[in-house]
Amino acid sequence: MKKYVTLAVLVALSVYSIAEARVKVSGRGAKMNFSADSVPGMYKPAFDLMQQKCIKCHTMERTVIAVQTGRAPITGQPFNKQAVKAYGIKMLRKPNSDMNKKEIRDIVVLLNFLLDENTK
Ligand code: HEC
Repeated sequence: MKKYVTLAVLVALSVYSIAEARVKVSGRGAKMNFSADSVPGMYKPAFDLMQQKCIKCHTMERTVIAVQTGRAPITGQPFNKQAVKAYGIKMLRKPNSDMNKKEIRDIVVLLNFLLDENTK
């Protein structure tokens, strides 16, 4: 019995935390994206860059879900500040990623900001 109560609490907490997530999102499915209004001016260049570079092989949905849930949706690995940099480098190293280190760095900084927004 106790086990089920704990499980129910955990499920409730995780649903609650997603529902309460601060980072604003627009659209659904393949059209899902971070909402541009919630991105301050200083991050706009990186935001625009991400819109061009990170949709080459998959939609923004993958990145939005990773930030919202704190889990990378394909591998299920944690997607937190420590992990973001590694993911950036992983994407950079993919064949034909068409990105450079500076671009990845700017996008990683932006994703860190979005992760912070999400946990506020
Ligand atoms: C050259 C193709 C390519 C580009 C460009 C690309 N990705 Fe990916 N991405 C992939 C592939 C393929 C996967 C599937 C999982 C894997 O191989 O890591 C993936 C998976 C992901 C995941 C889920 C990872 C997981 O472990 O579940 C995230 C988050 C992500 N990408 C974010 C980004 C971001 C942010 C950018 C832009 C900086 C980006 N991707 C650019 C190919 C790409």
